[in-house]
Amino acid sequence: MNIKKPRGTRDFPPSELAAREYIKSTLSQVFEAYNYQRIQTPTFEHAELFQLKSGEEIEEHMYVFEDKSSRKLCLRPEATASVCRMFSEELRSIRLPLKLYYYGPMFRYERPQKGRYREFWQIGMELIGPQSPESDAETILLAYDSLTKLGLTFTLEIGHMGIIRGLMSDLKIDENIQNKVIACIDKGDISQLEQLVDNPVIHDLIKLKGSVNVITQADNILNEYKTAKTAFNELKEVLEWLDNMGTEYCLNLGIARGLEYYTGTVFEIQIPKLGAQSQICGGGRYDNLIELFSGLKIPAVGFAFGFDRIMNAIKLQGIKIPEKRADLVAAPVNNAMRQHTLKIISPLRDTFIVDFDVMNRKLDKILKYAGDIQAKYVLIVGPEDLKDNQVTLRNMGDGKQEKIKITDLENRLTKLCR
Ligand code: HAM
Repeated sequence: MNIKKPRGTRDFPPSELAAREYIKSTLSQVFEAYNYQRIQTPTFEHAELFQLKSGEEIEEHMYVFEDKSSRKLCLRPEATASVCRMFSEELRSIRLPLKLYYYGPMFRYERPQKGRYREFWQIGMELIGPQSPESDAETILLAYDSLTKLGLTFTLEIGHMGIIRGLMSDLKIDENIQNKVIACIDKGDISQLEQLVDNPVIHDLIKLKGSVNVITQADNILNEYKTAKTAFNELKEVLEWLDNMGTEYCLNLGIARGLEYYTGTVFEIQIPKLGAQSQICGGGRYDNLIELFSGLKIPAVGFAFGFDRIMNAIKLQGIKIPEKRADLVAAPVNNAMRQHTLKIISPLRDTFIVDFDVMNRKLDKILKYAGDIQAKYVLIVGPEDLKDNQVTLRNMGDGKQEKIKITDLENRLTKLCR
C-alpha cells in the first residue's frame, strides 16, 4: 500500500522542526516581553463560529464536516474568532486589558503552492479591551519588533477599514454591497469593483499609497465625508505613536483585508521577494466581533504571522539559525562497560544533550556516528580508566583527548560546552 500525505500538508524532518522551534521560541519571547500570555484553543470548532463574520473568502476555503452526532464542525481557518469565543466562554470575568498570544495549525482548502498550504501555522496575538490609538500602535510595534528581532527585512503597510466603510456609509451604500466592495478591493478585482460602485471617490481613495503626501491627498479627498474623515483622523493618531518610535511604514488606503470583521486600523507585512505568497502578516482592529459572541461591547485588535512564510523568508534572506547539536556521545569500549557508562552519563542529562549508543557498536563505529551527527565530544569509557575513577573525553573538533575524573566531569563539560 502506498499512502501519501494529503495535498497541501507537509512532514517536518528533525532539522526543519528544530529550526521552526527555535523561531517559534524567539517570537514567543518577544510576545512575552510585551507581557502577552499564551493560550490554546481547539483545532476544530462549530462551523458557525467562522461563518458568522469571517467573510466569503474564508468560508469558501473552510474544511467543514459533520461528526457522528450530525454536528456541523470545521477545522479552524484562523484563530481570532476562536479567541473571541474563548473570551466569552471562559475569560469574560478577567480584568481587561487581556493580552493573549497563540501558536498552532490552521486549515484552509486553498490551491497549494509555495507559501500556501492547506495546513499552515500561525503565531498571533489579540489585545482585548482597549480602543486607544496606542493599543493599535502596540499591536503594530509587536509585529515590527518580532520581525526585527529575527533579522528580517520587510515592508509594513497600514490602512484603516473605517475610512472605506465610512465613505461607503456616507455615500449611503448598502452594507451587503459594502462587503462585496471590500472583497473586490482585497482581491484587486477592479472590473468587478467598477460594476458594483461607480463613484470616483472610492476609486481615488483606494489608490492612495505612500508616505506623508498621502495624508494631504486623503485629507482633500475626504473633506466632505464626515464618517470617513473621523476614521482617517483616528488613523493619524496611531501613526503619530509609530512616528514617535521611528517605525518605518507605508500608508496604503487600499488595504481591505479578506476577513470581514475588521473595523479600524488594518496592516499587512510583506516580504516582496517571496513572490506570490509574500504576505507574512495581517491584522487590525475588530471592535464588533466579541459583541457578536458575548453580547458585551468590547473592542479588540490583533494580528497573525504566517509562520511557514516566515520560515521561507528566513531561508530566502540567509538568516542563520543555531543548530542544536549533541554535547556528548557516550562510547563504552566493550560490552562490560555499557551499563557503567549509562550510570556515568545519566546525571549529565540534567544539563547536557547526551547520546548513548543503543546499537552495541564498536568504538570506531560510535566515533563515526558522533562525527556524522556533529556531536561536540565523545566520552570513552574503558576498564583501565574506570579502575582510576576516570574517563576519556575526545574533542570531535580537533581529535584531542583528555582524561578526567568522573567527579570532575560535569564541571569540565560546563566549561567546554556552555
Ligand atoms: P490572515 O491574513 O487571513 O489573517 O492570515 C494571517 C497570515 O497567515 C497571512 O498574512 C499569511 O501569512 C498566513 N496565511 C494565510 N493563509 C495561508 C496559507 N494557506 N498558507 C500559509 N500561510 C497562510 C488572519 O488569519 C487573522 N486572524 C489575523 C488577525 C488576528 N487579525 C486580528 N487578529
